[in-house]
Amino acid sequence: MFKKTLLAMALGGTIAATAQAGEVEVLHWWTSGGEAKSIAVLKEMVNDAGHSWKDFAVAGGGGENAYTVLRSRAVSGNAPASAQIKGLEIQEWGDLGFLADLSDVAEDNNWDSILPAVVSDVMKHDGKFVAAPVNVHRVNWMWANKAVLEEHGVKAPTSLDELWAASDKLKAAGITPIAHGGQPWQDATTFESIVLAVGGADFFSQVFVDHDQAALESDTMKTAFEEFGKVKQYIDKGAPGRDWNVATGMVIKGEAAFQFMGDWAKGEFSAAGKQPGADYYCLPFPGTEGEFTFNIDSLAMFKQRSSENEEAQMKMAELILSPEFQDVFNMNKGSIPVRLDQDMSGFDSCAQASMDTFKATSASGEGLVPSMAHGMSTTSAIQGAIYDVATDFFNSDMSADEAVLKLSRAVRAAQ
Ligand code: GAL
Repeated sequence: MFKKTLLAMALGGTIAATAQAGEVEVLHWWTSGGEAKSIAVLKEMVNDAGHSWKDFAVAGGGGENAYTVLRSRAVSGNAPASAQIKGLEIQEWGDLGFLADLSDVAEDNNWDSILPAVVSDVMKHDGKFVAAPVNVHRVNWMWANKAVLEEHGVKAPTSLDELWAASDKLKAAGITPIAHGGQPWQDATTFESIVLAVGGADFFSQVFVDHDQAALESDTMKTAFEEFGKVKQYIDKGAPGRDWNVATGMVIKGEAAFQFMGDWAKGEFSAAGKQPGADYYCLPFPGTEGEFTFNIDSLAMFKQRSSENEEAQMKMAELILSPEFQDVFNMNKGSIPVRLDQDMSGFDSCAQASMDTFKATSASGEGLVPSMAHGMSTTSAIQGAIYDVATDFFNSDMSADEAVLKLSRAVRAAQ
C-alpha cells in the first residue's frame, strides 16, 4: 500500500508537453574539491548536448545526508530525475517502482558487453538497467605523505604490524600518524579494511555478505576488533566529526602521515596538484595487497513525467558510459573506468595499479569483495547495524569480546 501511494505521488500531476530541450536534476554528494571537479564534467556534457542540468548537491561524505533528502523528496512526489544511488539501495528503490527502464540506451550502446558482470549486475533491477555506473572505486587504500615518511625513516608498511611500528615511530617524533575523520561511515571504512587484512577475502564475504554467525562470532573477528582499536592511539584530538577531505588535507600538507580511505582521496591530491610517487604514495591497505574492495558509483534514473526530461535523462545515461566521460571524470575522481575496453594509458600509476588488481581479481574470482561501508555488500539495515557497533566500539572502551557479541547480535536482528 505504502509502495503504491509513493509511486502514485511521484507520478501524479499533468504531463508537460513542451518542445524544449529537457532538464535533468541530479542529486549527488560530490562536493569536495576533487568530487566537484569530477561532476562538473557531466554537467558540461549534458549542457553541450543541448539539455540543462539542475544541480542538487547535498554535502556529506558517504551519502547519508543525500539519502535522507532523497527519501523526503520522493515521498512528497518530487523525486529528482537522477540520484546517486548505489549497490543494494538500487534494488530497494527498484522494488518501490520508482526507477526508469534504461534498456533502450543500454542495448544501443552495448552496455552488457562493455561492462564487467560485477558492475552490470548491480545496475539492473528485474534484469533491466535502471542505473548508469560512473566508476569503480577501490576502498582498501592507504594514502601516505612521501616527505613525512622519508624524513622519519619510515618505509611504506605492508602489514598491520609494520603499520603500528611505523605509527609508533611517527608518534614519538610528534607527527600524527593517522589522519582520521570520526564519522560512522569513515569508522566503517577503516574497520572493513582491517577485517580484510586480518581475515582475508573469504572471511570478509562470510561476515559482510553472508552474515555467517560462526564467522561473526569467531576469534578472527575478535582480532579484527583488537586491531581496529589500535587505530585510536594514532589519531589526533580533532578527529571526531572531521570530514574525510579535511583528513586527506592533513596528509597532503604533511600534518599527518597516513589516511585509510578509498581512492576518491586521490581526487583531493590531484586537485591540490600533487603527483603519486613524487608527493604521495597510494598503497594497498597494509595486509590487503592483491585484494580489491569495490565501491561502484552510479546514477539511478527516476521515472519522468515529461518526455523532454526523459530524453535529457536518457542522453545523460548514454554520456556517462562514453569513453570521453569515463576518461576525464575518473582522472579527476581518483577511480577507474567501468568500461573494460577503456584505454588506461592517460591514467596515473595508482589508477593503473587499481585497474590491474580489479581485472586480476575479477578474472580469478579471488580477492574481489564488495564494500560494506559503501553499500555494496548488504542491505541498508544491516549496514546501519554494523556502522553502529563499529562506531560505538571506536568511541568507547568497549572490549573486543563485547564488540563481537554486539556485532553478531545486531546483524542477526537486522536480517
Ligand atoms: C562514497 C562514494 C564516493 C565518494 C565518497 C565520499 O560513498 O562512493 O564517490 O564520494 O563517498 O564522499
